[in-house]
Amino acid sequence: MDSPSKPTRRTLLGAAGATGLGAALTACSPSSSPGSSEQASAAPSPDGDGQNVMPSDQLAELGKAEVTVRGPASGKDLGVLLYRPDASTVLAYSNICSHQGCAVGTETPEANFYCACHGSRYDYKDGSVLAGPAPKGLTRYAASIKGQDIVVYPPLDA
Ligand code: FES
Repeated sequence: MDSPSKPTRRTLLGAAGATGLGAALTACSPSSSPGSSEQASAAPSPDGDGQNVMPSDQLAELGKAEVTVRGPASGKDLGVLLYRPDASTVLAYSNICSHQGCAVGTETPEANFYCACHGSRYDYKDGSVLAGPAPKGLTRYAASIKGQDIVVYPPLDA
């Protein structure tokens, strides 16, 4: 007869099986469950002079827009998604999908940013992933409303 304080071979195998099952369930969890790696990053501080992307009166409060800035280092066009939560704030994100690099857009029936390649959805309020397969949120850019213009500050090494 087994002592109550000693684990039997059966309880050890049961525990190992349960652990394995837990790992298997974790590995198969749906991609739309937010995890820490899918969360939004903080907006960086403005660096450099920034680039005027549009007059501020052309982006209404709660409005979204797609604009382009020039990469300070590369000189290449960079797609930027904008969202204006209130009169004095504008949020900016790279439009490059974290899944396989397609362009994320604003045209969606729901109030999200959307990648048409494989259906990832991002929250326009912070760039976090709402539905995969995107593994992480959109890259944030610094942005501000300066006078009559919306100004975006792409990373200086972009
Ligand atoms: S590249 Fe955007 S979801 Fe796959």
